[in-house]
Amino acid sequence: MKRDLLSAFDMKDDLEQIVDLAINMKRRRYDYEPVLAKHILGMIFEKQSTRTRVSLETAIEQLGGHAIYLNPNDMQVGRGETVADTARVLSGFVDFISYRAYSSENVAELARNASVPVINALDNKEHPVQIVADFMTMKEKFGKLKGLKLAYVGDGNNMANSLIAGSSILGIDVSVASPQGHKPDPAIIQRSKETAKSKDSKVEILDSPQEAVENADAVYTDVWVSMGEEADKKEKEKQFAGYQVNDSLMSKAKNTAIFMHCLPAHRGLEVSASVIDGPKSIVFRQAENRLHTAKAILLTLHKSMPPRSSL
Ligand code: CP
Ligand code: NVA
Repeated sequence: MKRDLLSAFDMKDDLEQIVDLAINMKRRRYDYEPVLAKHILGMIFEKQSTRTRVSLETAIEQLGGHAIYLNPNDMQVGRGETVADTARVLSGFVDFISYRAYSSENVAELARNASVPVINALDNKEHPVQIVADFMTMKEKFGKLKGLKLAYVGDGNNMANSLIAGSSILGIDVSVASPQGHKPDPAIIQRSKETAKSKDSKVEILDSPQEAVENADAVYTDVWVSMGEEADKKEKEKQFAGYQVNDSLMSKAKNTAIFMHCLPAHRGLEVSASVIDGPKSIVFRQAENRLHTAKAILLTLHKSMPPRSSL
């Protein structure tokens, strides 16, 4: 059965294994070089990307395969061909499809109709590939994941949703502080709370950034204005004024706490320059780990596929 990665919950049984595989692939890069020889990744991007595009493309190339960047404006889907037909056609050519989309329904529609694994490369609801790199970075730093506390301060967006879900799977306590009206997705919170129960960990949704970062091992933030929300910029910047991660907020977390951000970042808005460019910041390690986790994800999804000839 082919396996897709659309949500953090699609890794509910093996998220930490994927993290560990990525750590091993980082250490032993050359051992894995031919594993995806001649395999093709089709990458559809409806929105801009630096890290996701370059890490996926580099990952498949380093594993012996090749990537094709697909801009929907240059494809027939941009003139009305359905997502379902696009999925069926691409499945005849490529071995994986990644899709960065405005709508999670379109990603699900593509996955339903593709016979090859589909990777959600960010949609309005989740950013599952990013969190694998984030948890890998935490494991490299702390040597473990279970029992840590992650505080997320800011917009209850795609990043927040995937981090909450992923933390609950890994037994990480997660506290999220966002303004009213910008809380994470209620269904994801609910499912994460249920998952956390079996791991003896906590999911807290708060208003106060100070309360959320108390005793945190890692403090995470993301942009206040996600791609596609540019029209709300002025309004959101007002609503999020008290949610900046700065030195004063970091001083309320553990002394050993690290600062995390998926990037791109806006210094002076969601994070002060002193924090993101300071000694606690681990953001460029997170970015680098996108490559190693992209490889681990491709390899893990590939293992679920029957040999091409028997499809
Ligand atoms: N963090 C992340 O996904 O970055 P890009 O938008 O550059 O891919
Ligand atoms: N929340 C951000 C993440 C970018 C990687 C966005 O969707 O634009």
